[in-house]
Amino acid sequence: MQVSIKTPEEIEKMRVAGRLAAEVLEMLDEHVKPGISTEELNSIAHDYIVNKQQAIPAPLNYKGFPKSICTSVNHVICHGIPTEKKILKDGDIINIDVTVIKDEYHGDTSKMWVVGKPKPGTQRLIQITQECLYKGIELVKPGTRLGDIGHVIQQHAEKHRYSVVRDYCGHGIGKVFHEEPQVMHYGKPGTGMELQEGMTFTIEPMINQGKYQTKLMADGWTVVTKDHKLSAQWEHTILVTADGYEVLTKRSEESF
Ligand code: MF3
Ligand code: CO
Ligand code: CO
Repeated sequence: MQVSIKTPEEIEKMRVAGRLAAEVLEMLDEHVKPGISTEELNSIAHDYIVNKQQAIPAPLNYKGFPKSICTSVNHVICHGIPTEKKILKDGDIINIDVTVIKDEYHGDTSKMWVVGKPKPGTQRLIQITQECLYKGIELVKPGTRLGDIGHVIQQHAEKHRYSVVRDYCGHGIGKVFHEEPQVMHYGKPGTGMELQEGMTFTIEPMINQGKYQTKLMADGWTVVTKDHKLSAQWEHTILVTADGYEVLTKRSEESF
């Protein structure tokens, strides 16, 4: 499959889907507190997407995924499955990853929270990971190559003695949840596909406090760090414009 270039009509639908996904994360802010279970967060998000936004939670039944959002706590890198048994406690870190489908198009975004009072070092991991995402986004414009984006993310993470997860990556997105190209979060400048106006894709770096190796749990979804150290992730859906980028999943606290 070739990389799809979105028409102006498709881009408008991507804007709507992206905005809805961002609004789910904003809505969840007040609920991410010690004592809540990840299943409760799932059901709050599910009801909001289905009833208020009249949209579809893309993860639900996607390749057999059983819930409507991914909730990845502490050493879980990504694709954590919400459950009533996982109750957030003081000092936990959590990534919530939301993907909505509206009018056939996808918006995909995630953010980190510290639950209650942060433990030493966690705030820094979360902040550097967000900077990795932002440094990648700032390079987006026609002519930039995917290796340029991977490189700047890897440089920033490794400068702070963190590691970049290799086994999972960003992706093209549109009518299809995961389409070409694959967007690696490591790489060499001047390599890889050249960006073109009208492409839409995610950047979603997963950055580990320890080594980059991952392990897939027996549930077939939950991905954890092999060394059980902490991992953080932030994600946006991006449009390549004539002279730069548009962050389709921007939240109101962000200024791009
Ligand atoms: N939202 C994730 C991503 O960023 C994918 C989740 S797939 C699921 O690509 F099945 F785990 F939900
Ligand atoms: Co994604
Ligand atoms: Co996602």
